[in-house]
Order: sequence, then structure tokens, then C-alpha cells
Amino acid sequence: MPTTVITGGTDGIGRALATTYLARGHDVLVVGTSTAKGEEFLAAAEHAGAGGRAHFLQADLSLVAENRRAVEWIACNHPSIDVLVLGARFHRSTRTQTSDGFESNFALYYLSRYLFSHGLAEALGHAERAVVLNFGGAGLTGPVRWDDLQLRRGYSGTGGLGHSAALCDLLGVHFTRLYQDSAIDYVLNHPGVVSTSFAGEYEPATAAHVDGLRVSGKPVSQAVEQILPFLDTPPTRLTAVLEGQRVSTSTAAFDPGDAARLHDVTENLLAGL
Ligand SMILES: NC(=O)c1ccc[n+]([C@@H]2O[C@H](COP(=O)([O-])OP(=O)(O)OC[C@H]3O[C@@H](n4cnc5c(N)ncnc54)[C@H](OP(=O)(O)O)[C@@H]3O)[C@@H](O)[C@H]2O)c1
Repeated sequence: MPTTVITGGTDGIGRALATTYLARGHDVLVVGTSTAKGEEFLAAAEHAGAGGRAHFLQADLSLVAENRRAVEWIACNHPSIDVLVLGARFHRSTRTQTSDGFESNFALYYLSRYLFSHGLAEALGHAERAVVLNFGGAGLTGPVRWDDLQLRRGYSGTGGLGHSAALCDLLGVHFTRLYQDSAIDYVLNHPGVVSTSFAGEYEPATAAHVDGLRVSGKPVSQAVEQILPFLDTPPTRLTAVLEGQRVSTSTAAFDPGDAARLHDVTENLLAGL
């Protein structure tokens, strides 16, 4: 039976993709912090007659140890993975550091996706053909602040998310180079504005703006429709998609040298923990 793993699969676009893959007959594991949301996902799956194929793992993916625990558990229990969706995110208007000492977007939006991509590469390699979906910036959200990766200067919540999405673009570039001999495709998707819960802690002005986005954003079903064809038939080993349209990966945002540099920087940061 094909297996799909989704971080942030308890809500928003991740949850809709979880429902889609359950309906296609996959075993689906969603990861999130909220047990209530996880239980609600399991109950809905049960109601749809897919209870035996739905799984929930509670983990705080802003922490390196939690990512390692989750990855180890998943690799043990799901040794072959066909689809990996990396969608967990949490907006913070105020700069926050995790107990590992990382800026919160860097930790959850980038580092967790780094640990999941590389930590599950072996399981992805066991599938006949695997695909990773990472909600990157599709080349739009850089440039990378090499001298301030932890965003100590001039922080904004939206800027923090965007910067991490730019790091995810580079993660995709280096991942596909490292695992070029495996049948693992990597899709970087920027969905545009989508009406979801927009999980986060917002200061009043941003909260009002986000309330507006919840109304004006496209429906989650449309975001899923725009990305599914690229997951079903990825056109190349690395594909970047902006609101359903493929965009070039030959721009500076996908520079292989920068991607290798970020990989080394990340390994050094992890080694220093
Ligand atoms: N919606 C948009 O307009 C938009 C625009 C551009 C890009 N995107 C990207 O698309 C992806 C999905 O976005 P969305 O709007 O669908 O998300 P969302 O509805 O805000 O849901 C966020 C998900 O992340 C999980 N999460 C939050 N903190 C977590 C943590 N510390 N550990 C583990 N899981 C955590 C949440 O689960 P719990 O509550 O259970 O923790 C939830 O399942 C994200 O990468 C987002 O940046 C979205």
C-alpha cells in the first residue's frame, strides 16, 4: 500500500492533501502538535471508512530532538514512503527563539524540513517512485540573508516565513543533487494566498490583515487542484511551482553553490547542538 507522510497534515492544505491521499487508498500519517486536531483527523477518516489507514503522530517540529524522534519513528514504522509533504508552519509577529537557540521560522519552516527530507531519504528511496512536496518560495521570497540566518535584525513575521521558504528552495536544489541516483522527485510549491487557519501569533494589525486573507484567499481545494498534477507526474527531478504554474529553477534563487553552502552551514549548526 502506498504511504504518505504529511507534516502540518492536521490543518489547511496539508489536511486537504491527507484527505486526498486517503481517498486514493494510501496509508496516511499526519504530524502536528495538537492532539485534538489529530484525533479529529482520525475520526473523520474512520467516518469515511479509511480509519485503518489514517495515523497521527504528535510532535513539536520546531525542536530538533522532536524532529529526530519523529523521523526515527516514521522510518521504523513506514520503511517505504511514496509521498512526503512538508507543510508545518506557525507565524510569529514577534521574533522568538526555540530552546535549541534557533529563530522559530528557521527551526520549523526550514530546519524541520531539512531533517525530514534527509532523515527519510532512505525510506523515500525504497518506494518505486517517490515525491517530496515542500512549500518553498518558488524563487520569490529571497534573497537569503547569509550574514543573519537567524533574523536577528529587522524581523517581521511574514519576512521570517518568506526567508525560510527561500532556504527551502535551496534545500530542494541540494537534496536532488545528493540523491540524484534515487527515484525521488522534489516539488517546491508556493500556493499563493489560500484561505486556511493561518496558524500563528499575530500582533493586532497583522491579525486584522490575516482575517482579510482568510476571506479573500483561494479555497484550499483550489490550492490542492493546482499542485496535485505536479505531484502525480513531476516534470523534472526538481520542479518549482507558483500558483499552479511551473517556474524556472535556473534563477539565482536556486543557485547550486548557495544550496551546497546552506547544506554545510546547516550541518555545522546541527553539529553544534
Ligand atoms: N495559506 C497560505 O496563504 C499560504 C501561502 C503561502 C505558503 N503557504 C504554505 O503552505 C503550507 C501550508 O500552509 P497552511 O496555510 O495550510 O497551514 P495552516 O493551516 O496554518 O496549518 C499549519 C499546520 O502546521 C502545524 N504546525 C504548526 N506548528 C507546528 C509545530 N511546532 N510542530 C508541528 N506541526 C506544527 C499545524 O498543526 P498543529 O496546530 O496541530 O500544530 C497545522 O497542521 C505552509 O508551509 C505555508 O507556509 C501557505
